[in-house]
Amino acid sequence: MKVLLLGATGNLGSRLVCALLTHGHIVTVFVRSSRKLESLLPSSIYQQILIVEGDATNTAAVKASILESKCEAVVTAAGVAAAAPWGSSDLPKIFRSIAEAVQQAGEERKQPLRVWFLSGMSILQVPGTKNMMSDYVPVFLEHRGNLKLLQSLPPNSVDWSLLCPMTMTEESKDLTVPTKLKQGRVVANTTTPPLWKKSWINSIPLIGSFLSVAMNASRYTTTLEQNADLIATDLETRDSSYIGKRVGVIGASA
Ligand SMILES: NC(=O)c1ccc[n+]([C@@H]2O[C@H](COP(=O)([O-])OP(=O)(O)OC[C@H]3O[C@@H](n4cnc5c(N)ncnc54)[C@H](OP(=O)(O)O)[C@@H]3O)[C@@H](O)[C@H]2O)c1
Repeated sequence: MKVLLLGATGNLGSRLVCALLTHGHIVTVFVRSSRKLESLLPSSIYQQILIVEGDATNTAAVKASILESKCEAVVTAAGVAAAAPWGSSDLPKIFRSIAEAVQQAGEERKQPLRVWFLSGMSILQVPGTKNMMSDYVPVFLEHRGNLKLLQSLPPNSVDWSLLCPMTMTEESKDLTVPTKLKQGRVVANTTTPPLWKKSWINSIPLIGSFLSVAMNASRYTTTLEQNADLIATDLETRDSSYIGKRVGVIGASA
């Protein structure tokens, strides 16, 4: 598939470049600095991608690069959410800009784009409840607004998925194509975290739910390479069971 990738100079984005190429996609990256990207990627990989320079908050520029590169899919790992409940970051502005760009580009090409956005585990629903994890542990709250935005898009205007990992660690500093997954593939689930463990702790009055969420969350560390591989694999086909969903992930051995 022809894919536009935003955030390619980041931890996840640089792994996405490698994973997308490994899975046979044609990759255009939208970055603020091609010089920075060139310094990060081995030249053999840098030569395999097309590069557009621009700022993701510029909706018109993102839309133009989708249409000009004839991309069918967009992946964005651009911007980072503020962790503290009182914090703020550029992410909501970046997220909105890209959501508007993909919606408008989809209208123009008369077919919705397939899009992977990044979020965090805090917006997954706690199994057996209607609550999000961030209702119990209020961190990374900007992700909630981003989810609302996607859910408010007109039906069939954007084929979005929202990846919701916990902390992602690196398997290796080396960026290579083809990629190799040292820790195997993740187990994924929509809406609620996969392989959630129910515990008696949940029944402790007042703090039980908080403790259960906090204890479970620590099991969900995955790697940057695993998450990049999930997205690149999913984009091998146009149909996906992840469309319109939040997607939670866990390492297979957790
Ligand atoms: N890392 C984790 O453990 C983790 C866990 C859960 C969720 N997430 C989410 O996953 C996403 C990626 O995380 P990460 O660790 O890969 O982040 P990162 O390494 O900080 O990368 C952020 C990327 O966003 C780009 N960016 C920022 N503002 C931009 C703008 N206005 N226009 C274009 N590009 C812009 C940066 O480009 P420059 O190089 O130009 O600055 C960089 O490539 C984030 O949304 C984060 O909230 C991360």
